[in-house]
Amino acid sequence: MNAVEWDESLSVGDAHVDAQHKYMIELAGTLAKALENGQANLVAHEALNALDAYTKQHFKDEEELMQRLGCVDLDLHRKKHASLLMDVQNLKGQMIARMPNIGEYVIKWVQKCLVPHILGADMRALKGVQAPQQDS
Ligand SMILES: [Fe+2]
Ligand SMILES: [Fe+2]
Repeated sequence: MNAVEWDESLSVGDAHVDAQHKYMIELAGTLAKALENGQANLVAHEALNALDAYTKQHFKDEEELMQRLGCVDLDLHRKKHASLLMDVQNLKGQMIARMPNIGEYVIKWVQKCLVPHILGADMRALKGVQAPQQDS
């Protein structure tokens, strides 16, 4: 996918959740550059630890916001979050097992799963619209 930049069109109207989305989209950009420069494995450890802590907090905060706003399909959204968190745990396990190319797997997961979730499911749930590069 092409690099995504956060702008006001991606705002969900909540400064805290917007700041979290912005951070994750910026992280995706930084990781994409590392992949291009052949440094994926070098950044994988730090990126995964950041993602582990950050996604847990973000999903919790976002689910609370969705509950406050009365978003439909909250249960389904929670399941998607749980599945993404499981992916992070699996990637951590693979990193600990020193799987070759783990950096590339982490970065591809951010690009193909995490960012599309923000642009697709989050936008649909919180704004009733979705950004052009949408996904589940
Ligand atoms: Fe989100
Ligand atoms: Fe979400």
